[in-house]
Amino acid sequence: MKKLLLPLLLATSSLLAFVSPAAAKTLTVGFAQTGAESAWRTANTDSMKNEAEKRGIILKFSDGQGKQENQIRAVRSFITQRVDAIVIAPLVETGWEPVLREAKRAKIPVIITDRTVQVSDESLFVCFIGSDFYTEGKMAADWLAKAVNGTGNIVELQGTPGSAPANERRKAFADGLAAYPGLKIIDSQSGDFRRSGGKEVMEALLKKHGKAIQIVYAHNDDMALGAIQAIEEAGLKPGQDILIVSIDAIKEAVAAVAAGKLAVTVECNPLFGPKVYDTVAKVLAGETVPKVSYNKDELFDSTNAAAALPSRQY
Ligand code: AHR
Repeated sequence: MKKLLLPLLLATSSLLAFVSPAAAKTLTVGFAQTGAESAWRTANTDSMKNEAEKRGIILKFSDGQGKQENQIRAVRSFITQRVDAIVIAPLVETGWEPVLREAKRAKIPVIITDRTVQVSDESLFVCFIGSDFYTEGKMAADWLAKAVNGTGNIVELQGTPGSAPANERRKAFADGLAAYPGLKIIDSQSGDFRRSGGKEVMEALLKKHGKAIQIVYAHNDDMALGAIQAIEEAGLKPGQDILIVSIDAIKEAVAAVAAGKLAVTVECNPLFGPKVYDTVAKVLAGETVPKVSYNKDELFDSTNAAAALPSRQY
């Protein structure tokens, strides 16, 4: 008996030596999501939830329903619950300092994902993971300038006012057009990143400007798809009468490119759940992580949309 027990005990104790208390502990992560305004957002939420489940992480998920105060309340409740880490996808860029200070005081690491925040003290969050919205807007402008030879009247469908993607995509697009005086933004209104918003704003813009509109620049695919609906209902042909440029590359938009209704969609990849949890694990293990980590994004137009369609994951 003794002969059998000794190797067993040794094996067990050497195994235990590798399982540190930290590694053995089930992680609890709080995630304050902005809401469910778009197909992109649904894919992002799914990526965060599915990956947490795969890794055995307890995810406390909060849907902010498009309100910053809901997100702030959720973060405060994560602090009270003493979660191991907090992930925030901030609806807007400003107004986060007080709650980030509370998390820092409670020694709970905060990872900002998807949208950036403007704070006076960068140590209030560990790092940012998401896309480079400025580059996306610039890619859209460069592609458009080339496609239309630098001329045309544009209407812009902006995202949520005050949000990083609306701010950055707007600025980058305007910067990109600066070299093309023949490309003019004749109107710019917010559709709040929603399909219904894109449709309503486009209906109003068509009434206001009629045939003067040659190009639509939408800050996301949902608004572009809503605009396509409005254009068709007005008896016009999207892709022929009006050229539409957009951002996100959700599957439905890539299909619209393949069908010739949408001219181009610049990718903004929402599937970064795995990267977020890898980062959480590193941070909790005391490792240094990059302050900013951008996802790789590409662009889909008539040259590659049909081929890309079968493998689109969102
Ligand atoms: O923050 C990312 C943006 O938010 C996506 O482009 C848009 O679809 C979403 O609602």
